[in-house]
Amino acid sequence: MYLQTFAVLAAASIARAETGEKHTRAAAPTGTAAWAAAHSSAAAALAKMSQNDKINMVTGVGWNKGPCVGNTNPIGSIGYPQLCLQDGPLGVRFGTGVTAFTPGIQAASTWDIDLIRQRGEYMGAEAKGCGVHVLLGPVAGPLGKNAAGGRNWEGFSPDPYLTGIAMAETIEGMQSSGVQATAKHYIGNEQELNRETMSSNIDDRTMHELYLWPFADAVHSNVASVMCSYNKLNSTWACENDKAQNQLLKKELGFQGYVMSDWNAQHTTNGAANGGMDMTMPGSDYSGKSGILWGPQLNTAVNNNQVSKARLDDMAKRILAAWYLTGQNSGYPAINIKANVQGNHKENVRAIARDGIVLLKNNGILPLKKPGKIAVIGSSSVQNPKGINSCVDQGCNTGALGMGWGSGSVNYPYVVAPYDALKTRAQSDGTTINLHNTDSTANVASVASGVDAAIVFITADAGEGYITVEKVLGDRNDLNPWHDGNALVQAVAAANKNTIVVVHSVGPVILETILALPGVQAVVWAGLPSQENGNALVDVLYGLTSPSGKLPYTIAKSASDYGTGVVSRDDNFAEGLYIDYRHFDKAGITPRYEFGFGLSYTNFTYADITVTSTAKSGPATGAVISGGRADLFDTVATVTVSITNSGDVQGAEVAQLYLTLPSSAPATPPKQLRGFDKLKLAPGASGTATFNLRRRDLSYWDTRQQNWIVPTGSIGVSVGASSRDTRLTGTITVL
Ligand SMILES: *[C@@H]1O[C@H](CO)[C@@H](O)[C@H](O)[C@H]1NC(C)=O
Ligand SMILES: *[C@@H]1O[C@H](CO)[C@@H](O)[C@H](O)[C@H]1NC(C)=O
Repeated sequence: MYLQTFAVLAAASIARAETGEKHTRAAAPTGTAAWAAAHSSAAAALAKMSQNDKINMVTGVGWNKGPCVGNTNPIGSIGYPQLCLQDGPLGVRFGTGVTAFTPGIQAASTWDIDLIRQRGEYMGAEAKGCGVHVLLGPVAGPLGKNAAGGRNWEGFSPDPYLTGIAMAETIEGMQSSGVQATAKHYIGNEQELNRETMSSNIDDRTMHELYLWPFADAVHSNVASVMCSYNKLNSTWACENDKAQNQLLKKELGFQGYVMSDWNAQHTTNGAANGGMDMTMPGSDYSGKSGILWGPQLNTAVNNNQVSKARLDDMAKRILAAWYLTGQNSGYPAINIKANVQGNHKENVRAIARDGIVLLKNNGILPLKKPGKIAVIGSSSVQNPKGINSCVDQGCNTGALGMGWGSGSVNYPYVVAPYDALKTRAQSDGTTINLHNTDSTANVASVASGVDAAIVFITADAGEGYITVEKVLGDRNDLNPWHDGNALVQAVAAANKNTIVVVHSVGPVILETILALPGVQAVVWAGLPSQENGNALVDVLYGLTSPSGKLPYTIAKSASDYGTGVVSRDDNFAEGLYIDYRHFDKAGITPRYEFGFGLSYTNFTYADITVTSTAKSGPATGAVISGGRADLFDTVATVTVSITNSGDVQGAEVAQLYLTLPSSAPATPPKQLRGFDKLKLAPGASGTATFNLRRRDLSYWDTRQQNWIVPTGSIGVSVGASSRDTRLTGTITVL
């Protein structure tokens, strides 16, 4: 697709020793000082630039006209390189020597901030090793209001707190390795259908408390760039939306980096410039016709005073500042997307693939203990027979499923399919395997009957709307397993009372048919494990690791229970704050598996809750720093609980804290996640889960005061093993 004419860069050793240290979010960065230094360097460089240089810095060179998916022109006079911007949120797209990291949704499913941060560090290191300046991720939009949304898997969770923490850790990790991170897609891009024409009409409070929330975390973590999205907001294109870009992002959140367009999401020359966009990508239309909106057009607009010189300076200064902020002005590697930069990063893939597995059901069949004979059933149990990278941008659901499709996918360096890893394990145990590597029910009964355990694999896939896979245009058409997975499991479970169902999926699947089958003894939610698929699964199936993932979304009994869905025209976001568990709680709908749910091979008991608080009611008053008013990020209350592993094996528990605001706050979801802590505990051992609550965690957005308010009264505290499995309660009293 692109000419690769750059010198091959020696593969840098980018391994980072795992320290096992506990990282805590308390040590949040102080962005403002770092940006001040970067902006002062940027101002000095800007003074040496001509107007033409500035235009070249803010305008991409055009589609397919450089080594990366996005490129700008070098500016020799200030030693500024040809900037390389490359997808995407799980590694370097089109790389051939890179790691296929786990998708964001799998990372979220671990609830492990150390693994999430390490994933960011490693992605950043690989991007830098390839000479990529700007890696186009992580994703907080879509947030995931629609369970069927095609790109939800690129992001983390429909809960803004969990997504916000994951954004912060990923960005800090990536930028500590030297690459510029891009928080995308800003904002309201919640579905693939009509994404380039529809308007997302989001009310002010919902915007702040759900969709903007994780972008505030991204800005607080000094994200270098933000990508504006394809859709409109209140009928104005996101990439020329003054309210979204100038007022919310730059003013209210104090964002000091630059806004780039999604690829061809720009629609006007002056509107985008004056509406707060700072860089256009790719700088042409997809036919390669350059300069259609910026480039010479922007030059003319500046000369005619339709766009001020100060605005152009501001664009260039923001782009330069991000470059200085990440230290790219010295010793940055030359661009070589094909460099081999994998190091030991597969260890992070395996750890996230494994620790993101959620055990949904287990009647005691797991972990497996040297079974004499097992059956392995389903097309996704084996590698894609046509080749692991045979589908462009992973646009097929054939063979082991490790990620969705689209620009947020990468090439696999290898895939360890479930069958590959199970076979290795079976050899060492002396287990025999019957393999049925299709989804056809024909003859499956004979394969499944008479074995100690029948492991059946089902999937659900989704992706970006420029590729259609098996009549799925991006967003899923329903929440059922693909390839008639229900019928396959029915046939297997009818033949064998020891059936284990393994689900690889981009998001929730309705499991009612499967759970009604008496032969189904266990359901293992294996998510999207990327290249370490089988290894991660064997770790859990055989009890080398106790499962410790928790659902980052709700699994409903019926698709209609979610109360939201992909729409065919504009979306008024009428559900407001009530998405995912917030909706189920408010509407009194019992989900099949609630948000935050996950079983283990051991048990955890919760005791001794303590609550300390210095929280004062009223509005935030601090000066605006990166992320918003400074005091929003102050810890104002701390909750601790003691957790004991009361079972027989080593395990890890994700303790979760939910807050219930008092009635002095206007109608607010019954419970909102505002803390989590994952503790790894030996059998019999105890540890302390600590939840540091920031002022923002106790606040609601007041539309009249245009500020975050801590309400007076008693804030309810629930700590437990899921959003519904409350083990301890407490109160924060606010005066
Ligand atoms: C969209 O309109 C709603 C309702 O007037 C308003 O609350 C919100 O701030 C607007 N958002 C944007 C981005 O213009
Ligand atoms: C966990 O607790 C449940 C309910 O008390 C009990 O049935 C089960 O045996 C325990 N499991 C372990 C591994 O201790």
